[in-house]
Amino acid sequence: MTSALALPKSPIQMHLGDFHRPFRSLRDGEVATYIPELAKVDPDYFGICLAAADGELYEVGDSRQPFTIQSISKAFAYGLALEDHGAEIVSRKVGVEPTGEAFNSILFDELNNRPYNPMVNAGAIATTALIKGRGHEVRFARIIGLMERFAGRPLDVDEAVYRSERATGHRNRAIAYLELNAGMIEEPIDEHLDLYFRQCSILVTARDLAIMAATLANNGVNPVTGVQAIAGEHVSAILSVMGSCGMYDFSGEWLYRVGLPAKSGVGGGIIATLPGQFGIGTFSPRLDPRGNSLRGIRVCEEFSDRFRLHMFEAHPTSESVVRRCYTRETVASKRIRRASEQALLERNGSAIRVYELQDDLYFATMEQLVRRIERDLPVFSLAVFDARRIRAATPVGLDLFDDALRWLAAHGKTIALAGFEACIESDLQGRGWGALPKFADLDLALEWCEERLLESLDAHSEPPEAPLSIAELDLFAQFSAEDCAHVAALVTETRYGGGDFIIQEHDRADRLFLLAAGEATLSAKAGEGEIRKRITTFVPGVSFGELALFYGGRRTADVIADGAVVGYELPYARIEQLAETSALLHTRLLLAIGRTLAERLRRTTAELRGLAA
Ligand code: DON
Repeated sequence: MTSALALPKSPIQMHLGDFHRPFRSLRDGEVATYIPELAKVDPDYFGICLAAADGELYEVGDSRQPFTIQSISKAFAYGLALEDHGAEIVSRKVGVEPTGEAFNSILFDELNNRPYNPMVNAGAIATTALIKGRGHEVRFARIIGLMERFAGRPLDVDEAVYRSERATGHRNRAIAYLELNAGMIEEPIDEHLDLYFRQCSILVTARDLAIMAATLANNGVNPVTGVQAIAGEHVSAILSVMGSCGMYDFSGEWLYRVGLPAKSGVGGGIIATLPGQFGIGTFSPRLDPRGNSLRGIRVCEEFSDRFRLHMFEAHPTSESVVRRCYTRETVASKRIRRASEQALLERNGSAIRVYELQDDLYFATMEQLVRRIERDLPVFSLAVFDARRIRAATPVGLDLFDDALRWLAAHGKTIALAGFEACIESDLQGRGWGALPKFADLDLALEWCEERLLESLDAHSEPPEAPLSIAELDLFAQFSAEDCAHVAALVTETRYGGGDFIIQEHDRADRLFLLAAGEATLSAKAGEGEIRKRITTFVPGVSFGELALFYGGRRTADVIADGAVVGYELPYARIEQLAETSALLHTRLLLAIGRTLAERLRRTTAELRGLAA
């Protein structure tokens, strides 16, 4: 039997090993020698790292072996040029068309007088020439600074590789001077070239590359450090040129076979990104004739194929953004109301509609939601959007949610929001929805809607000015004056201040409570941090504590006075004595309590059935 210690971290880790093991024996290809210093690398190094878009890392082999980033730096330098000048100006200086040519080809887009794209050397030199700053040191500090934010750690330069390329990079020098001659770039040419050579000589590991790729997958935020490495608005531009040009004259084939935006370097590294999901970094110095790592290509091909990761392979969720939709007929707030209000709300319950949402808010989910609301528009007047399961919203999702709110307001609908993330709430506030009622949970939002519905029906009851008498309580609605007087003689009037415990969990359950004035809430501490959760709120006229009359024992939750409370307590012992002294009243009382409990059970059952449907 395998010992637990020998087991891989997880099945994902195990699969990574499965991609590493078979390709270790692949010894085709040659290490780059045109930069003499690169020829010294051990050709057998082989590391893979996968970084999830939330920063979880899986590594295998030589994933922490440093090597020079080479052309992979081009993608990041392009990002910095975009930050420095904006897409408009950068696109005048460097195009985005693939060349179908080798990385070092001396080919220009003569029509537009610019290099074809930022991933080939000609474009990369023009990109680096755009990096702002005074002098080599300042400009280089900005380039490596950006890469450090992407990698999440300080990075060094391999000075020997830098000097080696500077001494032998005649072709790049030629490209740069041709660009100067054509007016594509300006002086100081030698400084731009040195910057380019040095950015190519930055040392990274496969692990760094995976994190850098995951940062692109995570819209520019490094998922390990939480640092915004680059403005999110530039990420799609970087990934686009990686997708179309990142693998040089293999880019079309790569996109077809692997389907992930990627970038290779002659140091043996490859990065690939699946937007929103993960980044991968590989290191193996043996290259194919195009300058792409052979094992790296094979690993990415296998990985993409095995897990169906091609970005054009859609994974539509079968789930709707509307997880559930129901009316007040199915789910009521946890407020135990007087029978008359209760009946009114039940009759008009279809006017309140709850949209229980899930997933993120973006174009497709908002289209679904709006379509669903449109269908219901004629039948509701109040709606609650329950967003406890909404994780995030894109700017477009928020725009469309804003549109939907305006559209609902124009139709005269009243809206309440429940459980929205603080960042979504504050965005809505910025759009003028500050006054929209917002609640931490659905229950409170539902209660608010119930109040509005009662108001619209002119049935909103104000709290009684004086404590209700026994005859005015729901439990005794069918009782004669004589019976009420008899009950009144059995009860003890009690008063509580706000926050007082009327019932405490684990207390002996020995009495029934009748609420004559003020409100009280049944709640229990639940979950992490022992947060108190409301189970029910009782209003004047209703009773509580009756269930224990039938099972005895101890209280299972707390009832706390919300403010000043006046109540009547009826000890169970006195109810039992009634069996001897006034059998008829005893029966009537038990029947009334039974009816109250049956009514609550009926509603709970209806709610469960409705939610299960
Ligand atoms: O320009 C060069 O020759 C190198 N510093 C970078 C080239 C490179 O990595 C090409 N990629 N596969």
